[in-house]
Amino acid sequence: MLILAIESSCDETAAAISRDGREILADVVYSQADMHAEYGGVVPEIASRKHIEKVSLVVERALKQAGLQASDLDAVAATCAPGLIGALLVGANFGKAAALALGKPFIPVHHIRGHIAANYIAFPELEPPFTALVASGGHTVIIDVETYTDMRVIGTTRDDAAGEAFDKTARILGLEYPGGAAIDRLSKQGDPKKYKLPRAQVQDSPYDFSFSGVKTAAVNLVHNARQKGEDISVPDLAAAISNAVAEAIAPRVVAAALENGRKTVVAAGGVAANSTLRAALQDLCNKNGLKLCLPPLKLCGDNGSMIAAQAYYEFMAGNTSDSAQNCYATMPAEEKLHLWDL
Ligand code: KG4
Ligand code: ZN
Repeated sequence: MLILAIESSCDETAAAISRDGREILADVVYSQADMHAEYGGVVPEIASRKHIEKVSLVVERALKQAGLQASDLDAVAATCAPGLIGALLVGANFGKAAALALGKPFIPVHHIRGHIAANYIAFPELEPPFTALVASGGHTVIIDVETYTDMRVIGTTRDDAAGEAFDKTARILGLEYPGGAAIDRLSKQGDPKKYKLPRAQVQDSPYDFSFSGVKTAAVNLVHNARQKGEDISVPDLAAAISNAVAEAIAPRVVAAALENGRKTVVAAGGVAANSTLRAALQDLCNKNGLKLCLPPLKLCGDNGSMIAAQAYYEFMAGNTSDSAQNCYATMPAEEKLHLWDL
């Protein structure tokens, strides 16, 4: 089964084509990151306008890369939640119109489910059930994945996502946007013990996170030092924030897997590219006899392939919809997107 998928939930306009979910025939990403860099964050209005300009181009390129005609496709999918609403609407409307014109089903895909599905591409043997961590610029969530399309959110962030803590710290330090990768690179030369940052725990909620305290503490540390005319060691602060994030996330994910009797942990999302977090997860999984799936860096950030992979499993579960499908800025990964609000 050939599925064309479109991803436009944030600042990447992406299209990909999957065969039976796991085989990727084409993957095209147009990143707007440079455009948003001068504002230090994604500007929703600019994101929507750029998606409009680029969506047909990335789809045409994907078809060309796969050596296919639009008429060869069996279904069209698009990310419909969560994300920037104007940005989502561009990809979803393009996908719905294409499906209608081709007389094929439309498959709405949840962005977080897509991130998890990046692992189906990277690990051909991987099958649910397992425990998943999705950590990105907008989300930090632990999910029990019972089947390809049945999931339960075990823990989530109460405020900022882990990626937000990385990006704001990078910004105050004058590093490039988005800052997660730069912080990761610099942290390797730093001493993680030089600066103390709070841990992102939530009282009485063992699987939830709160990263706003970590973010604010890092920003205040830099402000206070500057006011006193003191130098901040960028590598040391980078190492401290990487450690704070990894130590908050890794033990919770592993505890969730053990409590639910899962034998496999799966990591996903842009922050899953972080080397300190990857090492912490690997160490704890080894100690507890859990298998760990860490996707290659290319599949951690937003891309179309992950949506094309999940779309196949949504289709197999009957989760298709039509031109009436709406988009949603927020929506839990456990909800059925094609039934939402109907
Ligand atoms: O999944 P993603 O591409 O987009 C969202 O759905 O949000 O994640 C982007 C986030 C950004 O916050 C970026 O700074 C962070 O992932 N990121 C990293 C690394 N690479 C990207 N954070 C920490 N370490 C990295 N190596
Ligand atoms: Zn994402």
